[in-house]
Amino acid sequence: MNLPLAVKIVEVGPRDGLQNEKETIPAEIKVELVNRLSAAGFANIEAASFVSPKWVPQMATSSEVMHSITRRPGVIYSALVPNMKGFEAALAADANEVVIFGSASEAFSQKNINCSIAESVERFREVAVAAKQHGLRLRGSISCSFGCPYQGEVAPEAVADVVKRMRELGCDEIDIADTIGVGTAGQVKQVFASVEREFPLAQLAGHFHDTYGQALANIYAALQAGVRIFHSSVAGLGGCPYAKGATGNVSTEDVLYLLHGLGIKTGIDLDAVVDAGQFISHYLGRKAVSRAGNAIAARRSN
Ligand code: HMG
Ligand code: MG
Repeated sequence: MNLPLAVKIVEVGPRDGLQNEKETIPAEIKVELVNRLSAAGFANIEAASFVSPKWVPQMATSSEVMHSITRRPGVIYSALVPNMKGFEAALAADANEVVIFGSASEAFSQKNINCSIAESVERFREVAVAAKQHGLRLRGSISCSFGCPYQGEVAPEAVADVVKRMRELGCDEIDIADTIGVGTAGQVKQVFASVEREFPLAQLAGHFHDTYGQALANIYAALQAGVRIFHSSVAGLGGCPYAKGATGNVSTEDVLYLLHGLGIKTGIDLDAVVDAGQFISHYLGRKAVSRAGNAIAARRSN
């Protein structure tokens, strides 16, 4: 298949990236990060997560962050919601899109949201109806689509089954997530071939963590398979608190470097993303986990 002229990048750093940080990051820093990212040109930023603060303390400032960011017209600011309590908070915080998050693995579903896959779909049903009533976009995210830290292998058919259930709930977009970054390019082709029987390829996203260093190759394989939406995290921040050892999402700077090099438009200013990545890495007191980001920053200071 030919490569596309343009793709959509969903920046997930402020949520997936920061949720696993042990030290509480002040809301002002998160706000500054989101503002820098929207100024860089992202049309969709995952900025918040309305989950139990006992489960994920770092996300407890989500309301404050959502109320304090500068809203750019046309930008979709997304928030994770596991249940109606989360939905009400996201609505009050003016989220443009709510993200229900399930799993293709039973074991991970229990660890991450404390219920079975079937129970999670029942919880999401109310959220889905409420989202539609309020005219919000609804996105579904499916963890462990390429492997699970607790049960090991996950069959492509199991992923397709959750995609079907999320389609029935009315999701506008569905993310196929490699939570622990174990997937390889051949598997990407198999999984997307399986899920595209249940949901239009144009509305499926690839959400790759880079634990095994396969994320860029997986994105290239997904592009060839016809996927047109990708998630990435500035400075390669991240990791899931319920997926031990999993590292961050693929870094946005690396993904932009790949895509722009292929002549694929993203509408995003790579230099501004490098600045945002250096800003948050400096705050966290460590080097960005982005080869392209660090190389561009180093070239500038020469
Ligand atoms: P539970 O303990 O089964 O729920 O947790 P519960 O309904 O019994 O509630 C327990 C307590 O939590 C109660 O408070 C509730 O009020 C409160 P208490 O009475 O004990 O004081 N509570 C809430 N508080 C704030 N906001 C809420 C909320 N809901 C309940 N929305 C629950 C179930 C789903 C809440 C819990 O398991 C949870 O919050 N899990 C979140 C896990 C999480 O955020 N994981 C990371 C995000 S997913 C991810 O990163 C993967 C992704 O990137 C894709 C990929 O890479 O795979 C998306
Ligand atoms: Mg993730």
